[in-house]
Amino acid sequence: MKKVTIVGCGNMGSALARGLSNSSSLKLFDQHLEKSQALATQLKDAVFAKTLEEALQDADFVILAIKPKDFLRMAKEMASLLKPETRIVSVLAGVSYAQLREKLPAPIIVRAMPNLAVGCGKGVTGFVEDTQISEAARKEISLLFQSTGMVLWVNESKIDALMALTACAPAFIAYLVEAFTEGGIYSGFPADQALPLVRRVFEGTLALMEEQQMHPAALRWQVASPGGTTIEGLKVLEEYRVHFAIMQALNASAEKSKNML
Ligand SMILES: NC(=O)c1ccc[n+]([C@@H]2O[C@H](COP(=O)([O-])OP(=O)(O)OC[C@H]3O[C@@H](n4cnc5c(N)ncnc54)[C@H](OP(=O)(O)O)[C@@H]3O)[C@@H](O)[C@H]2O)c1
Repeated sequence: MKKVTIVGCGNMGSALARGLSNSSSLKLFDQHLEKSQALATQLKDAVFAKTLEEALQDADFVILAIKPKDFLRMAKEMASLLKPETRIVSVLAGVSYAQLREKLPAPIIVRAMPNLAVGCGKGVTGFVEDTQISEAARKEISLLFQSTGMVLWVNESKIDALMALTACAPAFIAYLVEAFTEGGIYSGFPADQALPLVRRVFEGTLALMEEQQMHPAALRWQVASPGGTTIEGLKVLEEYRVHFAIMQALNASAEKSKNML
């Protein structure tokens, strides 16, 4: 099992720890020791480190899961502690390869963009391609993240768009689930009945599209009969430009991601 250290045990660090816990030996570090300690006790084969130095000792991989605003301070602290063989995986939004390489003296640095679903093994992690990463290193990293869900490699020019589409999107989808639930409450269902129904409908719709390899528009037209109830509702979605709003939201997130330091 690879020895993986996770620095920063907030939302993403914890999700990655959960997703990697069955396939890696984990060491967790956060400036709030109570966070890393609590997380380590919940997971199989995980320990917490009391100092950054202890965290970095013996690590095959170090996953940086702190906020971009904390990167420069962290890079200064790490610089003298890194072993030459340690590979670094950064999940920081908006911190480029050039910025990572300028501040961190490690031979292998990989830029990654996971989403929170890595915590339940159904995530998507996009890794940024780079000529400095050998095919062997690529394979090793893809294998490491296999237990967290889907893995893909993309050109760095696509990483901000990928961030919006896969890393920000769970928040947008949760927002839609919430809106559907409130629609159910408005029409008389108690919240504790509406929410599981909505979750099931989202799950069933996605499963159907996947099983039958169905285009979303084809599914829409199967449900909407001429002059019927569904087309009446779809007309309202068009009037409120929901399709356009979602495209704009993704674009706004991708633009914001371009420089977060
Ligand atoms: N959340 C997502 O869905 C998501 C998706 C894709 C990528 N990411 C990336 O993941 C990174 C982490 O995001 P997050 O949402 O997990 O943030 P978060 O919940 O704020 O977690 C970051 C943790 O790291 C700690 N920390 C900060 N500086 C540290 C240091 N020098 N040493 C040790 N621990 C330190 C923070 O402490 P304090 O609370 O005191 O700052 C906090 O506990 C970000 O760079 C983000 O771009 C997040």
